[in-house]
Amino acid sequence: MKLLSFAATNSRQSINRALIDHAGRRLRAIIPAAEVETLDLNAYEMPIYSIDRERADGIPAAARDFHGRIGAADAVLVAFAEHNGFVTAAWKNVFDWMSRIEMALWQGKPMVMLAATPGPRAGANVLASQQMLAPHFGADLRGTLGIGNWPEAWDAATARLTRPEDIAALDDVLRRLVATPDPFALA
Ligand SMILES: Cc1cc2nc3c(=O)[nH]c(=O)nc-3n(C[C@H](O)[C@H](O)[C@H](O)COP(=O)(O)O)c2cc1C
Repeated sequence: MKLLSFAATNSRQSINRALIDHAGRRLRAIIPAAEVETLDLNAYEMPIYSIDRERADGIPAAARDFHGRIGAADAVLVAFAEHNGFVTAAWKNVFDWMSRIEMALWQGKPMVMLAATPGPRAGANVLASQQMLAPHFGADLRGTLGIGNWPEAWDAATARLTRPEDIAALDDVLRRLVATPDPFALA
C-alpha cells in the first residue's frame, strides 16, 4: 500500500510536518510494508492562480505533478496548518491549480485529515471546512484528528506525541485509513 502524505504548509519548521512524519512512522508500525511518500509544499510553489495566467500559460507542471501523485497513491494523509481559520495560502494555491485539472482532485482516495496548532482549538475551523468540502472534491474521508496545545502535546527529543490518548486516536484514524470499506455498510 502506497501512502501519499504532506503537511499543507510551507513553513520549514512546521509542526504539521512533524505530525505527518510521526504518523508515517505509526502507519509503518501498523503495516510494515507500507510505502510512505512525503511531499514538501515548498517544492510546489507556483504563480498565484488566476484565470488569466491559466489562459496564457496553462496549468503549471508542478500542479500536474502533485495531482499525478495523488492518483498514484492508495491513500492520502494530510496535516493542515490553520491560518486565520482556514488553509494556508500556499496550500490553497496548489489546490486551486489542481482543481482546474479535475474538480474531484482527491480522486476517490481514502483520506485522513490532521491538524496541529500551538493553541487549544486544534485546528477545529480548518478541519471543519475541509471535512465539509471533502466529498465535493472527491475524497473518501475516513477521519479527522486535531492536536492542540502542541508544545505540551509533542516531545521534540523523541519526535512523538506525548499523550497516550492522542497516540491512540492517531492509530485509530490510521487504521480507518487503511481499512477496506465494508461493502454492506449503510451510508
Ligand atoms: C498568518 C497566520 C495565521 C494564523 N491563524 C491561526 C488560526 O486561525 N488558528 C490557529 O490555531 N493558529 C493560527 N496560527 C498559528 C499557527 O497554527 C502556527 O503558526 C502553526 O505553527 C502553523 O502550522 P505549521 O507550523 O505546520 O506551519 C496562525 C499563524 C499565522 C502565521
